[in-house]
Amino acid sequence: MTNTLRLGVNIDHVATVRNARGGNVPDPVRAAKLAEEAGADGITAHLREDRRHIADADIDALMDALSVPLNFEMAATTEMQKIALRHKPHAVCIVPEKREERTTEGGLEVAREENHLAHYIAPLRDAGCRVSIFIAADQKQIEAAHRIGAQVIELHTGAYCDAHSEGHFEARDAELEKLRDMSAFAHSLGLEVHAGHGLTYDTVKPVAAFPEVMELNIGHFLIGEAIFRGLTPAIAEMRRLMDEARN
Ligand code: PXP
Repeated sequence: MTNTLRLGVNIDHVATVRNARGGNVPDPVRAAKLAEEAGADGITAHLREDRRHIADADIDALMDALSVPLNFEMAATTEMQKIALRHKPHAVCIVPEKREERTTEGGLEVAREENHLAHYIAPLRDAGCRVSIFIAADQKQIEAAHRIGAQVIELHTGAYCDAHSEGHFEARDAELEKLRDMSAFAHSLGLEVHAGHGLTYDTVKPVAAFPEVMELNIGHFLIGEAIFRGLTPAIAEMRRLMDEARN
């Protein structure tokens, strides 16, 4: 198993700040280029149905500007499939989306939607995108993701991170154990394993230490931390902690 752990930097919340005023600044593409220079192995952007942060024009600009792969997060809708097929990004991550939620609150229900999702992702795979499914650390969901033909799963680390920040350490450790076991299980099926959501300097190392995890996608914390120390040092510190955990 390779020891490389990739860092995907999610730049959605640069767009959140921009949209708070409705103008052009701060520019998420500028942040993405800076993240690249700071050592990000990929850029992640979520084009939500309501366009609350990333806009269609951001995806156009990212596709033109980036030298590292774009991981395009999207809900399993016809509109998003068309956009993905037009751009053919390196990776497409299918996430659940509810308008009323503040962020992606849970993993995708793959097991209940197996037929639909199998048909939905087939053209994306045929177009050369690596298809990732964002799911909870749940064996049933992982098996379903495998059956529908996804190449990658991204495990939702939100419950682990929430338990940590709320000081529920027993629950946190139980979540971490699930993530560890399910990383190994998914890898044994031949799936590439990614993880993300809510990760911070305090929570990244135990997840980064799982040998099956190949990529972490981290956004909100890094963009917040950039206010205090700048984006480049914020990313460099995350990279350092990931490498420390891995080695
Ligand atoms: N991975 C996925 C699939 C996500 O939906 C998100 C949030 O958009 C992230 C990772 C990054 O989460 P955070 O912004 O909390 O680091």
